[in-house]
Amino acid sequence: MSEPGAPIAPDRIGSTSVPAAAPASLAAPTATEGLTAADLHKAFGDHPVLRGVDLTVPDGAFAAVLGASGSGKTTLLRILAGFERPDRGVVAVGGVILDDDHHHLRAERRRVGYVPQEGSLFPHLTVEGNVGFGLRVREGREAEIAELLERVGLSGLGRRYPHELSGGQQQRVALARALAVRPRIVLLDEPFASLDAGLRATVRADVRAAVRRSGATAVLVTHDQDEALSIADLVAVIRDGVVAQVAPPRDLYESPVDPDLARFVGEANLIEGISYGSAAETPLGWLELRDGHRPARQQVTVLVRPEQLRVAASAGGGPGVAARVVETGFHGHDALVRLVMEDAAASPMVARVVGGMRLEAGAQVTLKVTGPVHCWPTPPAGDASPDLPAAQPDAGPG
Ligand SMILES: Nc1ncnc2c1ncn2[C@@H]1O[C@H](COP(=O)(O)OP(=O)(O)OP(=O)(O)O)[C@@H](O)[C@H]1O
Ligand SMILES: [Mg+2]
Repeated sequence: MSEPGAPIAPDRIGSTSVPAAAPASLAAPTATEGLTAADLHKAFGDHPVLRGVDLTVPDGAFAAVLGASGSGKTTLLRILAGFERPDRGVVAVGGVILDDDHHHLRAERRRVGYVPQEGSLFPHLTVEGNVGFGLRVREGREAEIAELLERVGLSGLGRRYPHELSGGQQQRVALARALAVRPRIVLLDEPFASLDAGLRATVRADVRAAVRRSGATAVLVTHDQDEALSIADLVAVIRDGVVAQVAPPRDLYESPVDPDLARFVGEANLIEGISYGSAAETPLGWLELRDGHRPARQQVTVLVRPEQLRVAASAGGGPGVAARVVETGFHGHDALVRLVMEDAAASPMVARVVGGMRLEAGAQVTLKVTGPVHCWPTPPAGDASPDLPAAQPDAGPG
């Protein structure tokens, strides 16, 4: 085995074959594969962080890796970049193997643009100096830097120093520098974490557009489910050292693999019911199941997202299940209302209410579920699924 940092054997460069030692889970890479990680393991001392991560990002796609703090997101990104070597597993880009048991291609040879978690600009260099840092001296260098700055919306700021820029502008300089090497892969480590909410949305959209225009395959890591769902074509959730689910944002939100994952990617009402084919009987009435048929009379746990719960004032006499408002958390664009059903011992429910509807604590209302719902067979008591921390704090009421 070659040492970390040793160049890849010349006969391996451009190889599209999977090494004999590759895990069975790695399908043969194809030319359309932007990035493949297979069975990645990494431990620090006796603390395992990655325990078999599998992730394939199609060429040109934008993927988000979502996970709790300390779940190994930065570790995964540093392995993909080539700064860290996996204990086991394979990394391939466009079918070319960069890491396996025998090979390790150095970071600087990977054509990877890396935007690290913390501010990474050289304080003594101007914006132009920072962006051009990785560019070899050559004809057209200035024009190239100007084009990169335009691409990230910073035209005219090339002569400034980092301390003369806002946080969002600094992030965009870091991105321009990552794009300067014309990367095949762009890796972004929580690049918007230090920005305030208003700026974050703008910078996020700018970065998304700039990466898209560059044609690179991108992986962004974040612990913010809102960010992951809004920016990515594909979201992978990392939990207990493995990818628990990888799916387009809507599929992940609507059909998570288990209740803990449902709670991790947003507010979730989980209620017990009995399935009968394509519907389930629950304390909220008969609900249509999203994913087709279940065996008759199966005990199921049903996921109802807050925006699927329609709340109406009881005085209106509309159809639905009687409930009482416990509290309301106002969020500007909407409000999250916590309620209890009058006739059920079920735990409190959360409904998302938009518009000017004011619901004070104690108000009597009716609840109705709209649209199909997802469900899982309820595991026997004591058979708990792995824990994930609760969803983001700003997603809950009050
Ligand atoms: N070089 C290292 N030596 C020892 N332990 C490390 C090292 N790098 C990371 N770890 C540990 O590995 C685990 C995963 O760290 P990592 O930085 O990958 O998490 P993360 O998901 O990026 O977290 P965050 O969201 O807080 O940035 C943590 O427990 C961390 O303490
Ligand atoms: Mg990190």
